[in-house]
Amino acid sequence: MATTTRDLLRFKAEGRRFAMLTAYDYPTALFADSAGIPVLLIGDTLGMVVLGHPTTVPVTLDDIIHHASAVVRGARGALLVGDLPFMTYQPSVEMAMRSSARLLQEAGVHAVKLEGAGPAVETVHRLTAAGVPVMGHLGLTPQSVHAIGGFRVRGRSAEAAERILSDARELEDAGVFALVLEAVPAELGRTVTGALRVPTIGIGAGPDCDGQVLVVHDMLGLTTGHVPRFVKRYANLGEQVVEAMRAFAAEVADGRFPAPEHAY
Ligand code: KIV
Repeated sequence: MATTTRDLLRFKAEGRRFAMLTAYDYPTALFADSAGIPVLLIGDTLGMVVLGHPTTVPVTLDDIIHHASAVVRGARGALLVGDLPFMTYQPSVEMAMRSSARLLQEAGVHAVKLEGAGPAVETVHRLTAAGVPVMGHLGLTPQSVHAIGGFRVRGRSAEAAERILSDARELEDAGVFALVLEAVPAELGRTVTGALRVPTIGIGAGPDCDGQVLVVHDMLGLTTGHVPRFVKRYANLGEQVVEAMRAFAAEVADGRFPAPEHAY
């Protein structure tokens, strides 16, 4: 039986912390299942770590559906959450409903995630009333990177922190089953977590969130360039990949591959 949104509420009530990872393909879903990861997010970070875009803004609903379908084929035990990309829910509640319907019906995810509050609160209300589980996302909301002026920590001033707290309460009242908090001071992560009944899932939001999420390519060492402070590398697979490719090319060049056991 796959993890459900109710399980996450129970984890919080029991004080049980949980992990969420992003996944964008079938093998990663299989590996995450074997590792017992309870929540997988087909995040729009796909645009940056898989498709090579500088931000998540160019990601389309078709991109998410394509990758989410592969994750759905591999994952058995996880709650699967599909990101609603930029401008697939902001223009209207109806658009959010149709975009979410495609994620649930075509890709087969169990829930959707959207960024921000304000007008998104009504959208969350309508989606949840229609039976679509919604995960919220506050703090650094990368789809607004151009409005924010870069990937920066949010909620540092007392006023900004108060705003994030009140947005979190509004999203909870509107029906989110969990809330991602990205790049906010640890103290704010603790405050929001203590104020909500639904679990918070932090990424750069300190140790007191109910869950923690990392981008799978970041934690496996499959990304190059700047590594955000909140990332912990649990493996350096990128280095191993380059080593393996060099070894293959060298063995082909000097005739060591294929050996007799690789030939028919
Ligand atoms: O798109 C994504 O992967 C995310 C996570 C970083 C939370 O939103």
